[in-house]
Amino acid sequence: MQDPERLLIAVDGPAASGKGTIARALARHYALPHLDTGMLYRGVALALFRFGGDPGNAFEARRAVDELETIDLSDEELRSEVIGEIASRVSAYPGVREALLKRQRDFAGQGGGAVLDGRDIGTVIAPHATAKLFVTASPEVRAERRFREIERRGIKVHLEEVLADIRARDARDAGRDNAPLVMAADATRLDTSDMGIEEAVERAIACVEAARGNA
Ligand code: DC
Repeated sequence: MQDPERLLIAVDGPAASGKGTIARALARHYALPHLDTGMLYRGVALALFRFGGDPGNAFEARRAVDELETIDLSDEELRSEVIGEIASRVSAYPGVREALLKRQRDFAGQGGGAVLDGRDIGTVIAPHATAKLFVTASPEVRAERRFREIERRGIKVHLEEVLADIRARDARDAGRDNAPLVMAADATRLDTSDMGIEEAVERAIACVEAARGNA
């Protein structure tokens, strides 16, 4: 029997939607462990990149999952655009997703509850989550946020280039056959286009409270 007090929160959404920031804030608010599942795919991408594997080859990508233990998941290189792009490509392979499934389900299943963010948490990893949020924002707003983040790291890019990358990533993440980026039927959509971080987090907490029956 599942503990009725156990709180499992699924946060999904496209690249640079603010889902990571919201998931971290929810984890802090409810004192729950948090897993950014995008980091697992990014870890696989970095492992593949390091052994010179081909992101177009499903077999090599699957082999990189076995190298995941060699990657430090707090390595800043994981956040680079190059690795994000490779992560989006390798995440389309069913073998890669399957190999990462148990680790994510185990995290979601821990006794005290958890917060997970990604693309398929509410649909595949934790379909029985207490609360499901689908965080989104317009491609233009997401590109602007990503652009500022890249600039802060001291890297020069063009906004149009970032927007084109965001659109390409959306198309690939939403268009793949296996666990595509879609909003779960019972998720609450949170469009953060016109919101600052504080308001978005407040709204997210209100959504969780509503899902727990406290609204
Ligand atoms: O959220 P992110 O940008 O760190 O994710 C990187 C890529 O990983 C993303 O383009 C798609 C993939 N991903 C996924 O397929 N499923 C998840 N649950 C999380 C990420």
